[in-house]
Amino acid sequence: MATNITWHQGLTHAERTTYLRQPGLTIWLTGLSASGKSTIAIALEQHLLHNSYVSYRLDGDNIRFGLNKDLGFSPSDRVENIRRIGEVSKLFADSGTIAITSFISPYKADRELARKLHEEAGLGFVEVHVDVPIQVAEERDPKGLYKKAREGIIKDFTGVSEGAPYEKPESPEVYIDNSKGSVEDGVKKIVDYLVEKGVLKFPKV
Ligand SMILES: Nc1ncnc2c1ncn2[C@@H]1O[C@H](COP(=O)(O)OP(=O)(O)O)[C@@H](O)[C@H]1O
Ligand SMILES: [Mg+2]
Repeated sequence: MATNITWHQGLTHAERTTYLRQPGLTIWLTGLSASGKSTIAIALEQHLLHNSYVSYRLDGDNIRFGLNKDLGFSPSDRVENIRRIGEVSKLFADSGTIAITSFISPYKADRELARKLHEEAGLGFVEVHVDVPIQVAEERDPKGLYKKAREGIIKDFTGVSEGAPYEKPESPEVYIDNSKGSVEDGVKKIVDYLVEKGVLKFPKV
C-alpha cells in the first residue's frame, strides 16, 4: 500500500474544485414548455464535456421518471418538484460538477429558493431565461402538449391553463430570445457569460 496517502476527515468543496480544476455550479434554465430548454441544455452539456468540463444535465427524463415519479403537476407538486431539483443540483454543484437543469420552473419563488440554497452553500447559480412567445412554443409543440392542453386533455398546463401561469424572471443572469437565433447562439450566450465572469476558460487546462 502506498504510504503517501493523506486521509481526510472530509473533503471541502474548495479541495474538490482544485482537484477537478473546475468550479461546481448550477446553470438553471427556465422557460415555457417547448421554448428550447432541453435542446440548449443538451448542446451545452456536450460543449462542456468536449472541453473536459464535468457536466451533468437534470431534465424531465431523469427526474420525473425517477426521484420525482410520485409527483404530478398540481401547484403543490410543482413546488416540491422544483425544491427537490434545487437540492439535487446543489449536491452536483457541491461535488464540483457543472449541473444544468432544464425544467419549466414557472414560479419565481421556487427559483429563488433554488438560488438561495446554492448561495448559502457558496455555490454559483446562473439563471437562464429561455424565452419564446407562447405562439412560437405552441407552433413548435413537438410533443403535441399545447394541443392537448387546449383541448382540455392536459390540465394545469403552464401558460395555457388558468391557475398555471409562467412567472418570467425579472433579472436572469442570461436572457436568450430563442425565437430568433440558433441553438448554438443560445449555448454561446451562456458560455460567453461564464467566460466573461471568469467562471470558465477555454481551453480548460
Ligand atoms: N433555437 C431554436 N430554433 C428553432 N427551433 C428550436 C430552437 N431551440 C429549440 N427548438 C425546437 O423547439 C422544440 C422544443 O424544444 P425543447 O428543447 O424540447 O423545449 P423544452 O425543453 O423547453 O420543452 C424542439 O422541436 C426543438 O428542436
Ligand atoms: Mg424539455
